[in-house]
Amino acid sequence: MKKKIVVIGSSNTDMVVKVPHIPARGETIMGTDFMTIAGGKGANQAVAATRAGADVTFIACVSDDAFGVQSVENYQNDGIDTSCIKVQPGTHSGIALINVAADGENSIAVAPGANAHLLPEDIRRFEHAFEGAQLVLAQLEIPMATVEAAAEIARSKGIPFILNPAPGAEIPNGLLEKITIITPNETEAAILTSRKKFTENEIPLMAGELYKVGIKTVMITLGSKGVYLKTEDFEGMIPGYKVQAVDTTAAGDVFNGALASALAGGMEVQKAVDFAQKAAAISVTRMGAQPSAPTINEIDTYKF
Ligand code: RIB
Repeated sequence: MKKKIVVIGSSNTDMVVKVPHIPARGETIMGTDFMTIAGGKGANQAVAATRAGADVTFIACVSDDAFGVQSVENYQNDGIDTSCIKVQPGTHSGIALINVAADGENSIAVAPGANAHLLPEDIRRFEHAFEGAQLVLAQLEIPMATVEAAAEIARSKGIPFILNPAPGAEIPNGLLEKITIITPNETEAAILTSRKKFTENEIPLMAGELYKVGIKTVMITLGSKGVYLKTEDFEGMIPGYKVQAVDTTAAGDVFNGALASALAGGMEVQKAVDFAQKAAAISVTRMGAQPSAPTINEIDTYKF
């Protein structure tokens, strides 16, 4: 079955330093390795979906600088349709400064640059890309109005819309109502349900509140613990996979990309969550964002 997905989102170049621990406020520490790695939540998800077997059109915006040129070349090498990537001169392509600690945890600061120039009118200009798509997937590293335009077009064409609400932000009701599947982590779910603090016991409540808004499939991702899933027919945890973490950067992106690919191929939702968790777990065993996304063959054969 043909699995056509449209991914709308950010394209970044990640400047990564390996550090013994994440520096505290005001602290300078000595790192070890430095790497320049392809990243950006949108691009990571586009690459993960492609490697998991989907035909992906990526709608994004880069600058005409060396980072932007290199990024588009990388996406083409992965087999992604880049005909809907806008080039915006006069700014820089998206950049992320990332510290990766010895335990695999990270801290990330993003300078969006060209990502902030992906506008609602661009999505309308690229509306033809939605034709024949089984799924549309977006995140929040581009302007909210642009995500809303994508959701609007997906709805008008009857295409399911997956939102990975990362980085965490409040979402207007008009957008929430158009989401078919939402995939926040617990912190993002707390923001969406107006909680400043939360305990683990509140995860089912948060899922219930998002479901009540009209989102038919709610998946709260809880790292290696698993995913709390709520649909009309199922509510509960789908356990995750424990691995030796090298770098957790983009684990959520790999989950979303693999999930979209599996669902577009008609996989049943609980199985798709399991497939996506396998992909995310494999990515955690590898360094970097896009280089860590596994192929469908690796996902199917990896021994946990
Ligand atoms: O989710 C990980 C990504 O967040 C990194 O690749 C970085 O570019 C930021 O967008």
